[in-house]
Amino acid sequence: MKPNHSPSQPIGIFDSGIGGLTVAHALVKYLPKENIIYFGDTAHLPYGDKSTAAIQAYAVKIAHMLLQQECKLILIACNSASAAAYELVKEYIGSKAIVMNVIDPTIRLLKDKYTAKRIGLIGTRQTVNSHIYKKKIDDLNLDIQLSSYATNLLAAAIEEFGNHHVIDSLLEVYLAHPDLQNIDALLLACTHYPVIKERILEHYKKPIEIIDSSEIVAQAVKKQLEKNNLLNANGTSIKHFYVSDYTESFAANAKLFFGEDITLEHYPLWD
Ligand code: DGL
Repeated sequence: MKPNHSPSQPIGIFDSGIGGLTVAHALVKYLPKENIIYFGDTAHLPYGDKSTAAIQAYAVKIAHMLLQQECKLILIACNSASAAAYELVKEYIGSKAIVMNVIDPTIRLLKDKYTAKRIGLIGTRQTVNSHIYKKKIDDLNLDIQLSSYATNLLAAAIEEFGNHHVIDSLLEVYLAHPDLQNIDALLLACTHYPVIKERILEHYKKPIEIIDSSEIVAQAVKKQLEKNNLLNANGTSIKHFYVSDYTESFAANAKLFFGEDITLEHYPLWD
């Protein structure tokens, strides 16, 4: 039984860094009146290389912080943390706020639109080694052929350089992997990747479709809020963008992910 939330309470979003801002941006598009608290755990970036136990510990602490800020819904805007910690976070705080991840809405999209297709998936080592997408596809008995490959250095390189041509060298090596050939679509299973969508497309000789689930996730959040009568229809949206470690490079790159100027604030959660 959830406590009585009110629509004006914020939505909490977190990621290992500023990549989750791609999801936050989609959320703002579909839910322009919502108050938003974003938390990027830049002190621990990248999550993709961390152990499941470490990511779980970070995620539970961040979720508690967002609860203290009275969030009505908490969205884990990171595939690595969704894979490693969603069930645990839900167990800890699911009675106090709605908890969502970025994987389940994507699976629903695959079910609706990609039956009988061959899908390549790229993500962090944590996401790929968890086999979470494959397990969910198998649990639903979906006729989808999925091959996954960990493109581990990509997220950190994107945070460091943005959408820069140095990324092409990584893509050249990663996307040439046999598991990522002969596919109908490539699923971006990392919230950092949408900003290099065009570069990825250029690396495929044959036209393929890119599956960027940020909009689908935003629509799923909207649906949940509607279902719980928690949609904030009035007022102006107040947004805070916190990071656990503030650097000039994070501040400079934030616009790339969010699509417009934002101010990052330091939130010393780990001090
Ligand atoms: N943006 C995160 C994801 O979706 C992970 C990047 C990282 O911290 O390794 O998986």
